[in-house]
Amino acid sequence: MVCLGNICRSPLAEGILKSKVDPSKIIVESAGTGGWHAGELPDPRSISIAQKYGLDITDQRGRKFSAYDFETYDYIFVMDNSNYRDVVQLAKDEIEKQKVQLILDEIFPGENVDVPDPYFGGEHGFENVYKMLDDACEKIAERL
Ligand code: 4NP
Repeated sequence: MVCLGNICRSPLAEGILKSKVDPSKIIVESAGTGGWHAGELPDPRSISIAQKYGLDITDQRGRKFSAYDFETYDYIFVMDNSNYRDVVQLAKDEIEKQKVQLILDEIFPGENVDVPDPYFGGEHGFENVYKMLDDACEKIAERL
């Protein structure tokens, strides 16, 4: 799960998908295309919305996406088109590039919809993001 800062959207996506799959079979992690928040806890607003829905994401710490992640993971879900461009740039071949997908393609196939960045907004944005990610992760979990 990849976003820009790895403190708002992708930590939620990581926590939500983890809660829907068997952890002995599927490894879920998140990262940011930027490294400014490496080592930090998720944003307090993400922690709080996750808590509201029964998920604890306080074991997570920010980290920067690396080209090595293409070798580790089968699927790379990005939150928006700008993340898509940044991540695909690091792919070494077409096979790696094919691993990258906009996460909302799961629920709006082919519509090119972004998960809006809630960083500069209020609490409402986080509720919205949580619901979108929950729907998308439900689809991903069914497929996996
Ligand atoms: P995220 O949100 O990509 O959903 O984690 C952001 C977090 C931090 C910043 C931007 C977006 N930032 O500019 O520090």
